[in-house]
Amino acid sequence: MISQTTIGEILSRIDIVDIVGGFVKLKKRGANYLGLCPFHNEKTPSFTVSPTKEIYKCFGCGRSGNAISFIMEHEKYSYVEALKWLANKYGITIEETFTTDEQRQQMQVADSLFIINTFAQQFFTKQLFETDEGQDIGLSYLKERGFREEIIKKFQLGYSPEKRDAFAKEAAARQYNSELLLKTGLVVNRNEQLQDNYRGRIIFPVHNHSGKVLGFGARILKSNDKAPKYINTPENEIYVKSKILYGSYFARQAIDRGDECLLVEGYTDVISLHQAGIENVVASGGTSLTTDQLRLIKKYTNNVTIIYDGDAAGVKAALRGLDMALEEGLNVKLVLIPDNEDPDSYVNKVGPSVFREFVQKNKRDFILFQLDVALKDAGPDSTKKAEVVNQIAETISRINKAEDFTKQQDYIKQCSEILKIDESGLHALVNKFIRNRIITQEKSLPFEEARHHEENAKKAQETDYDDATFDLLFKDELQERELARILLEYGTRYWDDRQLIAEYVLSEMIDETLLDNPDIINLINVIKQQLQIAPQQLNKNYFIYHPDSKLGSLAVSLLNFPYEESEHWKREYSQATGYQKRLFEQSYEEFIQTVARDNDQQLMRYLKMDEDRTHEEVESALNYLKLRKIKAS
Ligand code: CTP
Ligand code: MN
Repeated sequence: MISQTTIGEILSRIDIVDIVGGFVKLKKRGANYLGLCPFHNEKTPSFTVSPTKEIYKCFGCGRSGNAISFIMEHEKYSYVEALKWLANKYGITIEETFTTDEQRQQMQVADSLFIINTFAQQFFTKQLFETDEGQDIGLSYLKERGFREEIIKKFQLGYSPEKRDAFAKEAAARQYNSELLLKTGLVVNRNEQLQDNYRGRIIFPVHNHSGKVLGFGARILKSNDKAPKYINTPENEIYVKSKILYGSYFARQAIDRGDECLLVEGYTDVISLHQAGIENVVASGGTSLTTDQLRLIKKYTNNVTIIYDGDAAGVKAALRGLDMALEEGLNVKLVLIPDNEDPDSYVNKVGPSVFREFVQKNKRDFILFQLDVALKDAGPDSTKKAEVVNQIAETISRINKAEDFTKQQDYIKQCSEILKIDESGLHALVNKFIRNRIITQEKSLPFEEARHHEENAKKAQETDYDDATFDLLFKDELQERELARILLEYGTRYWDDRQLIAEYVLSEMIDETLLDNPDIINLINVIKQQLQIAPQQLNKNYFIYHPDSKLGSLAVSLLNFPYEESEHWKREYSQATGYQKRLFEQSYEEFIQTVARDNDQQLMRYLKMDEDRTHEEVESALNYLKLRKIKAS
């Protein structure tokens, strides 16, 4: 853990314009800075940075956050990694605190493993390029397979000599601890002696997404029935197979740029495709995909194209575990390579441009592909066909995020055509699966929470809101957010000579059970606690950088350049019909009027985003709550 003092020091140094400006060309526009959004493709700039609010927001794709979340998102770093990056940038020495000895030990082990791996990688590369054995056996093998020197160097490939202890000796000379050496899997214990584990093999270092060596895959050179083709690093503190995507470090930027990730099986597939100029590619390492690997991909893109060899085993491996991909909203496509080739051999055979074209032409939708395979398996047997229908309905039911609704409808349509069944029938079946899942999930929830879910589900089903629902969903939401925003923005200013605005608001607010938004209630509770401990810390940074990421993102969204239409508003408004639209507009007017309280000047200032209108704002927000209380009683 990075110490609180260090975090404080980093936060005090952060200059969001400087940080974002390191990645995005920014131009000053009024109080803000403007540039081309690094998170989506655009030709006219809509990416805005506010130095005073210390946040950014893209009005094109909607992404927003603070300096830390920018680094996290742009560099795909974790929170801690982002802090480390910033500390490094500002020359701040990181002071680490450890909650337990065990944690400290684990960190130390991890650090040591990285150090040994880096040393080993350099050793193997040196063997490959600078020794006779390495050149004659290793390098000539790689070149024969068509790998050029620059790509061999880029992926830091190496060669482990035949000699029993070539690496072990070097490692001993450097006095690396033998227990740690054993952990890396680079050596094994034979008769109380450390011996090399990858003798006479080609070495493929496996990097994490920031380029550090997690472990190795070591490929045998001759075909040999007894020895395994690859020996891989055993699981240890840093090598966790289920969380590794081979090649992610080299593919990151291309995946971002192309908004697509190609997924292959093996090391050589990744490297050959890179060499062919296809760089947005990672490998799963020959087993079926894990949830963690899919999550890693999802950090970069929602579009995955699996490119496997066409043999049955490969396809089966590809299909396993993909239900989760659908639930996560990933779009999965599948390309099968023909004639017993794999992506590596195929791209070497046909060349880059034919390969690209082949992939483009043969991309199959994963769900439709699955349906095809199942239908072929079922043949004319009608019981089996019914099973297929059930299965596909279950699969489609997993595409269940609100934003994927159209996608789900499309699948229902397409699949019912392929199956030659009634579309509404398939629809009903899919809904049944969704309902069943909700019910089983809810059984495990405490009663209150279950009721809440049920209500939410009901709300989601009603596309036409009646007035009451509308009130709940929209109007109060805005008012509540306004109140929370005031607390964030002005909470630590003095209301009068006795108390802070936060204290005043909380003492005047009749009770927070009047609020609907649980995040805002949470925020208010945190403010209440903090007021007891250290009121002056309650500035907006306290929340923007709050370790509870939900609070952090709430704060960022509240402090976003104010008074733009909320996402919710836009969505509701765009879906509203004539009568509803009028209602929306009317309530927006009402909202402004409540805040402005008959005071035209105030309204003007309000709309001009004046920063200094605290008292009136606070009063009107509180008045609103009081009004609501009266209405409710
Ligand atoms: N693999 C493994 N252990 C094995 C065989 C395979 O870990 N004994 C993993 C490796 O990550 C390998 C991937 O599965 O890259 C795919 O296996 P395979 O297709 O057999 O190897 P290729 O990568 O195609 O290697 P080559 O082209 O050299 O045969
Ligand atoms: Mn291969």
